[in-house]
Amino acid sequence: MKFQLLSLVSLLLTATTAAPSPAKPKTFDVMALRSASPIHFAQVSAAKSGLFLNLPAQNATCKGGQSSDHATFYVENEELVLYSCEGVKQKVFVDRSGMGQGIVGYITGDAPLPRYGELKGWKVDADQNLWFKDTALIACPSSIDGSWRIWLGLGLQKPGGNEGCLGFTARTLPNAKPVSCRYTQL
Ligand SMILES: *[C@@H]1O[C@H](CO)[C@@H](O)[C@H](O)[C@H]1NC(C)=O
Repeated sequence: MKFQLLSLVSLLLTATTAAPSPAKPKTFDVMALRSASPIHFAQVSAAKSGLFLNLPAQNATCKGGQSSDHATFYVENEELVLYSCEGVKQKVFVDRSGMGQGIVGYITGDAPLPRYGELKGWKVDADQNLWFKDTALIACPSSIDGSWRIWLGLGLQKPGGNEGCLGFTARTLPNAKPVSCRYTQL
């Protein structure tokens, strides 16, 4: 008994000393590539529970009073997370159902997902492009403040009734000095 207790204690001690500090996530920004279009080289922003291109201001609340004109993310367990060093995470979901039509949004902390919302399936490929389960992103014009709202490209003619949507390559750009932000919600 005594021996067991001791080995348990030493095991715990070993575990404590050996425990690495939580690995810093590989953070990245995302730039749209779609040549000869208004979204070529536009950076992805996050605001009001959605992702956008060409959004003038995100109005996010960032650490140390800093600000950022675009969003910074990391992928963890196939989930796309908005970078923050606070405990509460903001995660990006897609809804590929007939109702969702490929809508992309994000939830904060334990907030409920839309019924058919999915968090897992995000990956960055060998060319540094971001995908959700082999499906690319698209953007539709005439969204807030003249921006283009990002959707998942399910091949629909008018996702959510939006016209003039364009597919784009979502190129990730490593960001070694990410600004920690809490993005606004609807
Ligand atoms: C950010 O704040 C400005 C000024 O209040 C406002 O005009 C703009 O619509 C806001 N943008 C977003 C995405 O909330």
